[in-house]
Amino acid sequence: MRKFIARALKKLPKLDKAQIHALIYDLASENEQLEVVLNSMGDGVVVADVEHYVVFANKAAERVVPVAAGDWSERLIWEYLQDEDIAAFVRETLVNQESVMDREFTLDSGGLTRILSCSIMPLVRNGEIQGSILRIEDISEKRGREARLRRAESLASLTTLAAGVAHEIKNPLGSIGIHIQLIQKALNGSDEPDREAIEGNLNVINEEIDRLNKIVVDFLFAVRPMDINLEERDLNAVVSDLLEFVEPELEQAGIRLDRALESDLPTLKLDEKHFKQALLNVVKNAIAAMPEGGTLRVATRQSGDLVVLRLSDNGVGIPEDVLDKIFEPYFTTKDFGSGIGLTLVYKVIKEHGGDISVISDEGKGTTFTITLPIPQKEQHLLSWKGEDDEV
Ligand SMILES: Nc1ncnc2c1ncn2[C@@H]1O[C@H](COP(=O)(O)OP(=O)(O)O)[C@@H](O)[C@H]1O
Ligand SMILES: [Mg+2]
Repeated sequence: MRKFIARALKKLPKLDKAQIHALIYDLASENEQLEVVLNSMGDGVVVADVEHYVVFANKAAERVVPVAAGDWSERLIWEYLQDEDIAAFVRETLVNQESVMDREFTLDSGGLTRILSCSIMPLVRNGEIQGSILRIEDISEKRGREARLRRAESLASLTTLAAGVAHEIKNPLGSIGIHIQLIQKALNGSDEPDREAIEGNLNVINEEIDRLNKIVVDFLFAVRPMDINLEERDLNAVVSDLLEFVEPELEQAGIRLDRALESDLPTLKLDEKHFKQALLNVVKNAIAAMPEGGTLRVATRQSGDLVVLRLSDNGVGIPEDVLDKIFEPYFTTKDFGSGIGLTLVYKVIKEHGGDISVISDEGKGTTFTITLPIPQKEQHLLSWKGEDDEV
């Protein structure tokens, strides 16, 4: 574009009136086209120069945030923006010459709460900062959809849980019923009731009541909403802390610990208490899977905008047909298992915006892979290259 103008300027003295007219018309329509593109975007875009004066604002900017009425030129960007919080954020970011991605703001507009995501990036040309771009995205819809999805998901898991409870309480209730009938028979019979037999029946009833109680307690634990409190944490430090805590138990079980924690990982948003509990559940399962001892490998590494935490054991492994059941509430293959450990792990990881998957080889071992998102706030330079610019 600039090349084209430079060439046209050189030829200008030789051009006649009609040609100059056509040239200006071309330029104007080109410019208009750019404006049309920017104005038809759903996101608000405000461009400021190095002195922070607004040089351009698209139509969506006026729609998504309250802005000063009238002409935007000759206004500082934080004076143009009428929302106090956003204006203060923009001013602080620009004065400190920072870039910020996806900072969220809640806005009250006519009784409706809207969530906006704001990003500020420097406008770079020829390797030099020429100003800044503010992008404002209305993410209320997206958030609403996410919340609805989460609700639907938790409702679905609640149904599974309820079905699980119904199934679980059937056996103890049946057993209690039988033993009560036996006692009734003994008491109603013509013979002197056998005290010892009745005592035996009562003992069984007591045990079954304990079992019922445990089922209910576990159920409550599983359905209770988690009070998650995310704070910036060093994942390696949290992992090391937990490993230190379980080390004596590993040693006793003859399990060697193999740590491969990548240094300089970015900090993550973690709820330390819940996250440690989740890790502990995975480690405890690994210990149970290696009754003859073995190796527990714990590795962390960064992969793109995720951090990956991997826990592998070389224990008994999980048969393929139960692999997709292990996160289900009450699923256990242990005589005294609760089947709730991995349900909690799944819940905690989801609350962190992460994911968990498992691969297993029967007789060889099991690997749990947990991925966690890295909070986005890194510098992003948006480079604006003209066709004749060498950057
Ligand atoms: N590391 C592992 N190796 C082999 N099996 C495992 C491992 N982790 C979990 N499992 C299987 O998943 C089931 C469910 O685990 P969990 O939810 O923690 O409940 P629990 O430990 O009470 O059985 C276990 O009973 C076991 O069969
Ligand atoms: Mg367990």
